[in-house]
Amino acid sequence: MNTLNIQPVADLLAKLHQEAEVTDAPFIEEMMTRLQASGDTLEHAAAELVAQERDDYRHAYREHADHFLSITPQYGRFLYAIARACRAARIVEFGTSMGISTIYLAAALRDNGGGQLIGSELEPAKVARARGHIQAAGLSDLVEIREGEALETLQDVGGTVDLALIDGAWSLYLPVLKLIEPRLRPGAVVLGENGFAADYRDYVRDPSNGYVAHTLPIDEGRGNEFAVRVG
Ligand SMILES: C[S@@+](CC[C@H](N)C(=O)[O-])C[C@H]1O[C@@H](n2cnc3c(N)ncnc32)[C@H](O)[C@@H]1O
Repeated sequence: MNTLNIQPVADLLAKLHQEAEVTDAPFIEEMMTRLQASGDTLEHAAAELVAQERDDYRHAYREHADHFLSITPQYGRFLYAIARACRAARIVEFGTSMGISTIYLAAALRDNGGGQLIGSELEPAKVARARGHIQAAGLSDLVEIREGEALETLQDVGGTVDLALIDGAWSLYLPVLKLIEPRLRPGAVVLGENGFAADYRDYVRDPSNGYVAHTLPIDEGRGNEFAVRVG
């Protein structure tokens, strides 16, 4: 058995995913209705969303302070598996929200024999809720969540990084990657949760930048990027 499949983590994740679905459903439905009414393509609407968010991402995420905006259970299982496969001991997460992705990654750290995850989250209420969830999962000893602007809080991650999950403001995917890039060990895995950030996607796909990247066949349509730091 692994930490994901035993208590308290198994029931807690099921409960949090259910809560996320109920809480976020009205906002997602409203977005989809607006998209259908506009007749716009998903790609074009996504590009507009990124441009709007770039203007004022703090305001955009303040509006979502009660939303989970979390990964899916299948992406979570992938996170756990990849963190086990690369024997991650040090993980950085941009965009912790309520801590769902953090729990999958910290469960992998536990089963890898220990380590440290440094998370980052703008919204103080989300930081408090994420810490509560991580404590309920029995994983607090592995996780440090840094409250505030990730471009500041992730400036010093204190050592090499084996795996990074990039899942905060789209306009900051690339700046945050560049911030932690000197800390990525050869072979480090970098995951961009959804591919709406075109500048980030183009960067990791350009071999001259030192990555080998692919879009994952998980949550099709979201363009989840998988990149390995090859130097
Ligand atoms: C998509 S959600 C993260 C979901 C989370 N990884 C999960 O799966 O449970 C993005 C989060 O990033 C946070 N965020 C956005 N920009 C940020 C920034 N510049 N610094 C820190 N956190 C940020 C938002 O407040 C939001 O909670």
